[in-house]
Amino acid sequence: MKIAIRYYTQTKLGNTKKIADRLSDALEVPALPVSEKLNEDVDVLFLLDAMYANDVNKAIKEFLKEPGAKIGTIYNICSSCSGRSTAKKIRKLGSKLGLNISEKDYACHGQWLGLMKGHPTEEELQGAVDFAKKALEQE
Ligand SMILES: Cc1cc2nc3c(=O)[nH]c(=O)nc-3n(C[C@H](O)[C@H](O)[C@H](O)COP(=O)(O)O)c2cc1C
Repeated sequence: MKIAIRYYTQTKLGNTKKIADRLSDALEVPALPVSEKLNEDVDVLFLLDAMYANDVNKAIKEFLKEPGAKIGTIYNICSSCSGRSTAKKIRKLGSKLGLNISEKDYACHGQWLGLMKGHPTEEELQGAVDFAKKALEQE
């Protein structure tokens, strides 16, 4: 099965990158920023993003518009200060673009300024890995 990981991280803490790197180690698949388009078709794409001003960052939207190759299923993995997920927004955009976004997604807290210090925690990082492994088993 061909798997890819793409992420967009904005803050200096690099919360999304932390999750992406953990996933990369566990799945032995490189975690690349969304500025790097896919160069071959994939069965599964893990898309890692965060919530900014109650929305998805433009870089994520641009990647989804032109990912560079065909994608079987996209699984959204998100961190946000509130713990709320971008998944609903990603699914809405995906359906407009004809992409297959899974109904399953993973969301955890991410530190923002002085709030939610220490998140994503070790448990949350492992939670993302467990989510991804389970998703792949069910593919
Ligand atoms: C400009 C900005 C806006 C944000 N807006 C929200 C928001 O609306 N809701 C929320 O829950 N978290 C919000 N956050 C918190 C981020 O979602 C959280 O810190 C996330 O883990 C950041 O990931 P990153 O380090 O990969 O950029 C915001 C963060 C920034 C920098």
